[in-house]
Amino acid sequence: MLGIIGGTSLLYADLPELEKKVVPTPFGPAEVLFGDIVILMRHQFNTPPHRINFPACLSSLKLSGVNRIVAFGSVGSLNRSIGPGSVVLPDDYLSMSKIPTIFNSSIGHASPSIDAEIHDELSYIVPEAVKKGTYVQTDGPRLETRAEIMALKDLGDVVGMTISSEATIANELSIPFAAVCMVDNFCHGLGAEELSYEYILEKSRSNKETTEKILENIIER
Ligand code: HPA
Repeated sequence: MLGIIGGTSLLYADLPELEKKVVPTPFGPAEVLFGDIVILMRHQFNTPPHRINFPACLSSLKLSGVNRIVAFGSVGSLNRSIGPGSVVLPDDYLSMSKIPTIFNSSIGHASPSIDAEIHDELSYIVPEAVKKGTYVQTDGPRLETRAEIMALKDLGDVVGMTISSEATIANELSIPFAAVCMVDNFCHGLGAEELSYEYILEKSRSNKETTEKILENIIER
């Protein structure tokens, strides 16, 4: 069963008709949209990125029978050749923030990575996407300073606030995971416009059709 995780980038997309279900997990409850696929909206009732209960969210997918995950994420670009409107399929990730874990009272050491098979499938489904790139996670909810972006530019290609945590916990739960990143903006200081959350939301809205088409193609396969 396919699990889709969405956030800001799926906020404006028309989603398939699915049944809302609250799934109790050892880490707390999470709400999913359940049917032939399972969709999890990561900002559950407006939770900001730094307060998302990732163990509960990912466990709710596992307990719903999900055995592979595609996560959609809104990102800023660190790379001047990858502009707003682009789609990036990261092949690796790193994190500047503390990554949550399901191993707080038992010992487990995941060796996390983006699943190569799902990544290849996504490359086929979205041929126009940038297929290689490193996702950098920051804490949020604030955006980064210009100085932070100058430092991060040497480390990766896109910045967001959630995918590294999700990829890691998916690995801990042995669920293959890959991500589709929708580039909504150049990171702070790299674009001509003044960066704000409103600007990002506006760009996300204008990526709606691309996002819907990609989601539709993933679900149909
Ligand atoms: N930084 C962090 N997260 C983001 C950004 C950004 O510039 N754009 C969309 N999500």
